[in-house]
Amino acid sequence: MARRMIIAGNWKMNKTPSEAVALIKELIPLVKNDAVDVVFCVPAIDIIPAVEAVKGTNIKIGAENMYFEESGAYTGEIAPNMLVDAGVSHVILGHSERRGYFGETDLDINKKVKKAFEHDLTPIICCGESLEQREQGITIDWIRQQIKIAFLDITADQAKAAVIAYEPIWAIGTGKTATSDQAQEVCGAIRDCIREIYDEATADAIRIQYGGSVNAKTAPDLFAKPDIDGGLVGGASLKAEFGDIVNYE
Ligand code: PGA
Repeated sequence: MARRMIIAGNWKMNKTPSEAVALIKELIPLVKNDAVDVVFCVPAIDIIPAVEAVKGTNIKIGAENMYFEESGAYTGEIAPNMLVDAGVSHVILGHSERRGYFGETDLDINKKVKKAFEHDLTPIICCGESLEQREQGITIDWIRQQIKIAFLDITADQAKAAVIAYEPIWAIGTGKTATSDQAQEVCGAIRDCIREIYDEATADAIRIQYGGSVNAKTAPDLFAKPDIDGGLVGGASLKAEFGDIVNYE
């Protein structure tokens, strides 16, 4: 089955609201590609001006995180219906920076994935191993565990609509992109894991991105791999280079 490519920028903690609008205006003409879903995941405070700035373009706006409760006494958190009301379609969940710096666990991420689906938000569910884990040879076991917990109580129909981002932690922001063979090996294993949990149709439908120092040079080889359906791009999504990544062919 031909899966549609999805290439998302993860802006992380960069760009003020006015800077965000200026960057979006610069990128709009560069990221046109009818064959690709293009998503800009921006800081929460940039969401409303970003949604306004992309009106009438092919770009969708995503959030970088959200909380798993509907509303209430959770100072500083953002609820799923707030994202939906603001015009957000995608949400990154379980990024390794959220796990590492803010203590998010696999079970927290599973709660967030469930909430995202309740609100028709497309989750971009992140997984990835550390350098130590890779050197110990436990990468695949580790990723399978992250995936199995993230998808607890998620139906096959929901899973079909999900996006998984495989991001080796040692490749994030380091300039050390995984080789396309390394990335394919893990993305293939992720698809096998989804096949075991659900079925062939679900494994065929779910989209799996690679992330970690993706740039205009490495994107073509990575995105040509059979189990890689696009990328989650940090640093290079804040530059004109993102246009070359979206038009990688
Ligand atoms: P990077 O970040 O492209 O800057 O390595 C990717 C990510 O963390 O999503």
